[in-house]
Amino acid sequence: MLSYQHEYHAGNHADVLKHSVLALLIRALQRKPKPMRVLDTHAGSGTYDLGSPEAQRGREFERGIARVLEERPVPPELAAYIQIVDACNRGDALETYPGSPRIARALLRETDRLELFELHPKAHAALESAFRRDRQVHVHRRDGFEGVLAVVPPPERRGLVLIDPSYETDDDFARVLDVVPALHRRWTNGVIAVWYPLLRRPQAAAFARRLCALDLPRFYRVELEVEPAGGFGLLGSGLAIANLPYGVDAELETLLPWLHRRLAVDGAGGFRARWLTAP
Ligand SMILES: C[S@@+](CC[C@H](N)C(=O)[O-])C[C@H]1O[C@@H](n2cnc3c(N)ncnc32)[C@H](O)[C@@H]1O
Repeated sequence: MLSYQHEYHAGNHADVLKHSVLALLIRALQRKPKPMRVLDTHAGSGTYDLGSPEAQRGREFERGIARVLEERPVPPELAAYIQIVDACNRGDALETYPGSPRIARALLRETDRLELFELHPKAHAALESAFRRDRQVHVHRRDGFEGVLAVVPPPERRGLVLIDPSYETDDDFARVLDVVPALHRRWTNGVIAVWYPLLRRPQAAAFARRLCALDLPRFYRVELEVEPAGGFGLLGSGLAIANLPYGVDAELETLLPWLHRRLAVDGAGGFRARWLTAP
């Protein structure tokens, strides 16, 4: 079932957390000159028109990226990500939002590579058209869970897998719990970043507990909750990251309070950034 369309949610608080962490991870991997590869298992369309009927329906970006852009300068930990958002837009207008493929692509060095997996025909076509002539990017129309296992470890042996399913079906929760240990067995030093939703549903909390209980090296968790506890829908989100690159923990500890201050609705929710296994 492929009913999910990220167009409705582009630039929301969950995107802000996910994409700022993605940029920090890529930047940290690039502290060494050796080439690296980013693999995005659920890539989406790549770029989002915030004026589209889908984005305009809930205007979720107004409580996400728009609130971040209201305060300049942004903290240094956000600079690379915000530079990419700014580059998609003219002047102060916020009309376009870059998805994870655009953000990763903007950060690649000449020797780095990006692999994108996307199953939705429309989103896949958008990626194909954006990256057709780009020799550093490979777009797969393939199941991301199964596809990524077939291509790791990459030839560079350094890099990052972003796992960002929609969790619309229970299957996604189970598949994440299967794919993460399998990925780690195949590529022991690969960075694995899993995005997950914070919802009222007990199943979502049980999933986060099981994910964070996996026995993985340098395993770190960030969570940002911004909606009032009585609310429905997405209260916030988190990422569990294995093989967290050195230095990113300190950056996240600085970034999370700032993001919470900007994004929390009347100060609701909270944040955490902490090691799950000894660094
Ligand atoms: C949350 S969105 C991705 C957003 C994107 N990562 C970003 O941050 O801009 C999830 C995407 O996964 C796609 N998808 C769903 N199941 C998939 C699967 N098994 N393999 C690959 N893509 C899938 C959906 O069509 C949707 O575009």
